[in-house]
Amino acid sequence: MDTLLKMEKIERHYETPAGTVRALDGVSFEITEGERVILLGPSGSGKTTLLNCLSALDSPTGGSYTFKTQSTKTIEEVPRNSSEKMTSFRRENIGYVFQFFNLLQDLTVLENILLIQELAGKKNPARAKELLKLVGLEAEINRFPGEISGGQQQRVAIARSIAKRPTLLLGDELTGNLDTETSNKVMEALVSACKQENITSVFVTHDEGLVKYATRVIRIDSGKIVSDEQTENDSSE
Ligand SMILES: Nc1ncnc2c1ncn2[C@@H]1O[C@H](COP(=O)(O)OP(=O)(O)OP(=O)(O)O)[C@@H](O)[C@H]1O
Ligand SMILES: [Mg+2]
Repeated sequence: MDTLLKMEKIERHYETPAGTVRALDGVSFEITEGERVILLGPSGSGKTTLLNCLSALDSPTGGSYTFKTQSTKTIEEVPRNSSEKMTSFRRENIGYVFQFFNLLQDLTVLENILLIQELAGKKNPARAKELLKLVGLEAEINRFPGEISGGQQQRVAIARSIAKRPTLLLGDELTGNLDTETSNKVMEALVSACKQENITSVFVTHDEGLVKYATRVIRIDSGKIVSDEQTENDSSE
């Protein structure tokens, strides 16, 4: 398997009246295609900041970040400080499940998924329905987000994030609103979708119980990686 992305000495500093906040302070790692990474760390340690830099929602203030993009299959520097270029990088390569799922309220469950596929130029209603079935929502596809529960909305957001077959799938506390049983079901569905389609993933969580789904666990504290270990799960199967 090839390297998908590489961060070298990535910094994300914020200048505030009280001084410089080093949200990321020299983060270096490489991720290989097919890896399933869990990112753990205390509140305020830099997890969301790191996901935002990985997805090109945010621009690092220092260091280098390169990525093997879907269209060219070559390793390129990820765009920063240009919202247009960052948006097109994200559309092409990234799926992101946010902590607060950002569903469009005026679209049905199914339409929310179709829209994302359309934006990525990959409209496929049959696959959209198949993914909603995978997360256990076949009965809700024509309802609006306001007509389903928080956990169900989260599952729509998860189905939506894989609908366009991203190269890299990112999740911030993606099972945070689900009970243990649903959370396990959703994680199993996600792992099997990622394996089938060779999607690489990085999930932030506080839940050590999710480590069993990962091939690698990275721990971060005060903007620095403090440990980085492979689990017994195999990312190449
Ligand atoms: N816009 C900002 N300006 C200044 N400091 C910021 C800003 N955004 C984040 N920070 C700081 O950067 C650090 C990392 O924040 P981040 O949101 O990445 O933490 P986190 O690990 O995701 O925490 P949590 O588990 O609570 O979600 C924190 O100290 C935070 O206060
Ligand atoms: Mg966070």
